[in-house]
Amino acid sequence: MCISPASFLLEVLLFSSVIALASAQGSTKWLTLSGEKPLVIARGGFSGMFPDSSSFAYSVALITSGSDVVVWCDVQLTKEGTGICAPLPTLENSTNIASVFPTKQSTYIVNGVSMKGYFSIDFTLKDLENIYLTQGISSRSNLFDGNSLPIITVQDVPMQFQDVNTPGLWLNIQHDGFFRQHNLSMTNFVISTSRRVSISYISSPEMNFLRVIGRQLNVKKTKLIFRFLEKDSREPSTNQTYGSLLSNLPFIKRFASGILVPKAFIWPVSADNYLSQATSVVLDAHNNGLEVFASDFVNDLPLSYNYSYDPIAETLQYIDNHNFSVDGLLTDFPITQSAAIDCFAQLGKNSSAQVKLLVISHYGASGDYPSCTDVAYQNAIQDGADVIDCPIQMSKDAVPFCFPSINLMEGSTIAQSSFRNRTDSIPELISGNAIFSFSLTWSEIQTLTPQISNPLPKYQLYRNPAARNVGKFVSLSDFLTLAKSSSSLSGILLQIENAAYLAENQGVSVIDKVLEALSDTGISNQTTLKVMIQSTNSSVLKKIKGGGNYELVYEVDETIGDAANSTVEDIKGFAHSVVVSKSSVLPVTALYLTNTTIKTVSKLQAFNLPVYVQLFRNEFVSQAWDFFSDATVEINSFVMGSNINGVITDFPKTAAAYKRNKCLGSGNITLAYMTPVQPGSLLQLIPTNALPPALAPLSVLEDSDVNEPPLPSVSAKAPSPTSGSTSTSYITAPNGDSQPKFYVPVFISGLLVLASLFLSL
Ligand SMILES: *[C@@H]1O[C@H](CO)[C@@H](O)[C@H](O)[C@H]1NC(C)=O
Ligand SMILES: *[C@@H]1O[C@H](CO)[C@@H](O)[C@H](O)[C@H]1NC(C)=O
Ligand SMILES: *[C@@H]1O[C@H](CO)[C@@H](O)[C@H](O)[C@H]1NC(C)=O
Ligand SMILES: *[C@@H]1O[C@H](CO)[C@@H](O)[C@H](O)[C@H]1NC(C)=O
Ligand SMILES: *[C@@H]1O[C@H](CO)[C@@H](O)[C@H](O)[C@H]1NC(C)=O
Ligand SMILES: *[C@@H]1O[C@H](CO)[C@@H](O)[C@H](O)[C@H]1NC(C)=O
Ligand SMILES: *[C@@H]1O[C@H](CO)[C@@H](O)[C@H](O)[C@H]1NC(C)=O
Ligand SMILES: *[C@@H]1O[C@H](CO)[C@@H](O)[C@H](O)[C@H]1NC(C)=O
Ligand SMILES: *[C@@H]1O[C@H](CO)[C@@H](O)[C@H](O)[C@H]1NC(C)=O
Ligand SMILES: *[C@@H]1O[C@H](CO)[C@@H](O)[C@H](O)[C@H]1NC(C)=O
Ligand SMILES: *[C@@H]1O[C@H](CO)[C@@H](O)[C@H](O)[C@H]1NC(C)=O
Ligand SMILES: *[C@@H]1O[C@H](CO)[C@@H](O)[C@H](O)[C@H]1NC(C)=O
Repeated sequence: MCISPASFLLEVLLFSSVIALASAQGSTKWLTLSGEKPLVIARGGFSGMFPDSSSFAYSVALITSGSDVVVWCDVQLTKEGTGICAPLPTLENSTNIASVFPTKQSTYIVNGVSMKGYFSIDFTLKDLENIYLTQGISSRSNLFDGNSLPIITVQDVPMQFQDVNTPGLWLNIQHDGFFRQHNLSMTNFVISTSRRVSISYISSPEMNFLRVIGRQLNVKKTKLIFRFLEKDSREPSTNQTYGSLLSNLPFIKRFASGILVPKAFIWPVSADNYLSQATSVVLDAHNNGLEVFASDFVNDLPLSYNYSYDPIAETLQYIDNHNFSVDGLLTDFPITQSAAIDCFAQLGKNSSAQVKLLVISHYGASGDYPSCTDVAYQNAIQDGADVIDCPIQMSKDAVPFCFPSINLMEGSTIAQSSFRNRTDSIPELISGNAIFSFSLTWSEIQTLTPQISNPLPKYQLYRNPAARNVGKFVSLSDFLTLAKSSSSLSGILLQIENAAYLAENQGVSVIDKVLEALSDTGISNQTTLKVMIQSTNSSVLKKIKGGGNYELVYEVDETIGDAANSTVEDIKGFAHSVVVSKSSVLPVTALYLTNTTIKTVSKLQAFNLPVYVQLFRNEFVSQAWDFFSDATVEINSFVMGSNINGVITDFPKTAAAYKRNKCLGSGNITLAYMTPVQPGSLLQLIPTNALPPALAPLSVLEDSDVNEPPLPSVSAKAPSPTSGSTSTSYITAPNGDSQPKFYVPVFISGLLVLASLFLSL
């Protein structure tokens, strides 16, 4: 109930450079009703990150999204009829009330349904002074719960923004009828509040409420919005279903200036999670003079597969689809919609890169198609990748081809094919049984069915099932031919691993095979397409050195925080650039960025070695919390905050769109959402007793880490692989990404106490 001192702290902490809140480019014409740009409405503030309707949530919404965000408060009434902001009429899911007043539960009928819980109407403001806000959604971080964030009254919301422009305020009145039954008047509360604070919007799913309030308020100052609930539930004043009311928009126009609908009313999603054609809801409403606001934008639930897990792509579907734009978006992660509107909408196909950043695919567009297939590569090119990559494997008949692993079980359905008995155990290469690339001839490999990668099955996040098994595997020479015919690629990246093993045990020199293919396809003596050759083993790069005009890329396969100068000098002796992991640039503990000082990038760049970083993925569980479950925020922080030279990504489309976004080109105006996040800032908002374990010191890359014995010579005759065909487990889990994961599964119920959260780490 009081002003939180946290907002200033938050502002200082969250972003590393000075924030100039700038409203966006004015001249664009939008397909909204007014022609103005759509509104971003922050539901309970930045509730995707902080407890709903807390000072943290409200402040961060404004800090990250600019002054034109509107903050949303779900109004509930206390025993004396004062309005507080809380998502539900019961408080136990969003506060610690159950532990403070364990006996004060009640059961009431709400909209005809019996509900049990700690109702706001049973508590006075004084009672609630000792109650603190908590994260109500169990898949979100509850480490901020210990901050003793007080419940905020409606009229105190503007005070959360003391020194900055107060954003617009949107009050949602979900249960007027319920409060009326208990002789509490929401109408009186709203009217008296409107005299003290400026209310921009009021929404309600109850028509009577809007009709009554409309007679008493200045509806020029405060817009009234009718909220649609699920199509088959019934509106209490008319007893009609919301579905049937949707076909009577002129009726709604009589008391409201706009409607708020679930986003699926506009772009329906099929049962298998693909997007169907748009409905006419927005056009119909606009024809009736009604604005349309869409709800349910969240970054941390699986999106329709059509969006490739990119929440900006989803938002653009609603505001930049050539036929219509909604007038506003109700979101738990307002940074995403703000960036989409100001930076990514209306870009045009021809917009050019605004920042120097090499977008390197990882197995092609493997986020959407099976890794290393022709389809994955074609799509990576179409998506705007600068460089496509081929991890080179050798077949039994010494044909080099692209495949994500030397083990054919990772990336194909070979385990279900007639080749399934070709398993071997070669601990030197892979622990456990595998079917090695050199156990099948190239013509056999061409018969394999590709299998899309699903690196995060633990979270039930799957990739594009409709394309699960599409495409064909390509030989290196097919790959080179494809790359050569593209007019947009700037380069290709060929990865060579296991060269020593293949020379000694299979009698084949991968390097020779690669150089041969480059020469056969005429790529070796052209200059338009840059050829990058990458290895984790310096002996491979040393062997190639001098053998062509190639960019040699050294992959550091451990997490480092720095590199010794002498080591970087060594690397310079055999490589032109370096690949490091994300956590060697921005280290994390329990998926929170730490403030550890990291010298990796600056050290390598000081010696003129460009740094490419892997592995970027769109799925929100692969990113640190600090990036707001938005892949673009993550990329931006690496580019703007750490100055990296390239990203290696499963989703080249997202990185390529990032490069072209117009905010990067907006001169010296720094938009908040284009400012890199400040590493360690979220950790500082976590109370000491809830902090995740400190990060162990990161290692420094030393000479001994990079120096390797020279490659062995190629053995005269290939020994035939020993067959371990009695294996019982043919199917291995796909190779996940090696970074530590922390995620509270959605099925954990109830309010977790901090201690138990720790145990689940
Ligand atoms: C509301 O007021 C009416 C009339 O004063 C009274 O009969 C009723 O019991 C009250 N209801 C509640 C829930 O207090
Ligand atoms: C609302 O309409 C439904 C269907 O016509 C009917 O079954 C129900 O009794 C009605 N409810 C009220 C409160 O009138
Ligand atoms: C979504 O993706 C599916 C499968 O690729 C496609 O059939 C459908 O047309 C897409 N929907 C939209 C609206 O683009
Ligand atoms: C736009 O409208 C046209 C004509 O109604 C339709 O064919 C097209 O699919 C629509 N496009 C989108 C993105 O909805
Ligand atoms: C895009 O660029 C091409 C070639 O420069 C040009 O022909 C085309 O008109 C441009 N399209 C748009 C929409 O600007
Ligand atoms: C694998 O199975 C095929 C028949 O499906 C058989 O012809 C072949 O000999 C088997 N190979 C091994 C190594 O067991
Ligand atoms: C490319 O290399 C081949 C073989 O080494 C040579 O015959 C040819 O002239 C070269 N082409 C160019 C354009 O240098
Ligand atoms: C290492 O190299 C950096 C960058 O060139 C330089 O600033 C630093 O002084 C060097 N450190 C040592 C110990 O030589
Ligand atoms: C990182 O944060 C800790 C704890 O807040 C602080 O003691 C330390 O000085 C910070 N380190 C840096 C490099 O900012
Ligand atoms: C950039 O900064 C300069 C001086 O610092 C100022 O004159 C100029 O107007 C600024 N440009 C923009 C686009 O803000
Ligand atoms: C690198 O290659 C050398 C042979 O040149 C081999 O002895 C060494 O084990 C390889 N190192 C790694 C880490 O694979
Ligand atoms: C409150 O949380 C519990 C446990 O997560 C959940 O079962 C319940 O549905 C939630 N209540 C409401 C009203 O959302």
